[in-house]
Amino acid sequence: MQPKLSVENLYKIFGKHPAAAMRMLREGAGKADILARTGATVGVRDASFAVEEGEIFVVMGLSGSGKSTLVRMLNGLIPPTEGHILIDGEDVATAAPADLRRIRRERIAMVFQHFALFPHWSIAENVAYGLKVRGIPAPERRARALEVLEQVGLAPWADSRPADLSGGMQQRVGLARGLAADPDILLMDEPFGALDPLIRRDMQMELLTLQKTLKKTIVFITHDLNEALLLGNRIAIMKDGEIVQIGTAQEIVTNPADDYVAAFVADIDRGRVFTVDDVSSEALTVPLRDTSVRQALRLMENRGTQALYVMDGTRPVGVVTYRDLAASELDEATPNPTLREALITDFPTANTDTQLHELYGPAGGGLPIAVTDERDRLLAVVEPGDVLTHLSGAATNEPAKEGADAQPR
Ligand SMILES: Nc1ncnc2c1ncn2[C@@H]1O[C@H](COP(=O)(O)OP(=O)(O)O)[C@@H](O)[C@H]1O
Ligand SMILES: [Mg+2]
Repeated sequence: MQPKLSVENLYKIFGKHPAAAMRMLREGAGKADILARTGATVGVRDASFAVEEGEIFVVMGLSGSGKSTLVRMLNGLIPPTEGHILIDGEDVATAAPADLRRIRRERIAMVFQHFALFPHWSIAENVAYGLKVRGIPAPERRARALEVLEQVGLAPWADSRPADLSGGMQQRVGLARGLAADPDILLMDEPFGALDPLIRRDMQMELLTLQKTLKKTIVFITHDLNEALLLGNRIAIMKDGEIVQIGTAQEIVTNPADDYVAAFVADIDRGRVFTVDDVSSEALTVPLRDTSVRQALRLMENRGTQALYVMDGTRPVGVVTYRDLAASELDEATPNPTLREALITDFPTANTDTQLHELYGPAGGGLPIAVTDERDRLLAVVEPGDVLTHLSGAATNEPAKEGADAQPR
């Protein structure tokens, strides 16, 4: 299957002498050097990547790294100096103006950080703006606007004015406007950048929820790595117009391509990047019936563990610890101890996609955390120590050497 969107060797040079600047680029000159010698600014330098249908592809980088230039080329707002942008195989970079207008109308929509709502129009009218431009009749526009306002949870405000809405709600109007034309591809240029952190977190979660049903192909721009890691199926990291690494959140955090990426990764919240799936290990179990205290103790000694899960069929009924069992064996008041007496039945549990930060508390109890499925079957365990190792980054590889393979994969 061909990717929904594919970018091939894309360049943008701003300024009067793009040819001279391109020549210097090919000879390996840097952005500052090119600016000094030609007066041209390198916006984007040799960007290549493919975005699959339904994927959230995040482009992340510091201010000035070329994110907006890149995303504006994707919908033809800025003509590239060189390279190709294929949407379903059709090249935006070389499309005739009429084709470009059609692509922008039907296939791709942009949501900006600072998008203008018309203050005297109702929310529904604002949402339907693009449809009005396209000459769609009023009743149809209204119906479509209500439909997307419903999707973003703003249906009750359809007839309010922008001033009646909070910043977060206004941003959702922007999203609704983008969705109104039902584009396949949604470009979002720092849409939550101006929101305060709590509202921003809400919007991020909402976008993820919405995407479960929308399944749009989304190119999301941000300068915030935590936001990138939360939202992106994959993330491209840009520096001085260049993509220095493309990968999943886990790939980037575990194996930053260079010092620039490593510096970003250093202060991210690892607890929100890694999930139980990244740290779980095979569960050591014994059946409740037919296991003696002595057998359980020997098993833990052989495997070098401090605790075991005790099973009734596929379901864990409790944990026993080495310490408790060893004590019960020595307890003269109970001559024939069984696992039952030492069973801890309020053991901690998690799902495979539980984020590690949610395990701070449970891991503190010292027991292995049971990873169970929706039918309470035991899939694996998370050892408390493994949570801490992963959060501290001790399980992380060193950043790749300077100049090592920093090309997008
Ligand atoms: N219209 C323009 N004319 C000249 N230079 C520009 C223009 N737009 C962007 N640039 C330059 O291109 C580089 C990338 O900018 P931009 O894409 O806006 O970065 P970002 O969105 O990552 O902050 C910067 O050096 C910026 O100054
Ligand atoms: Mg920008």
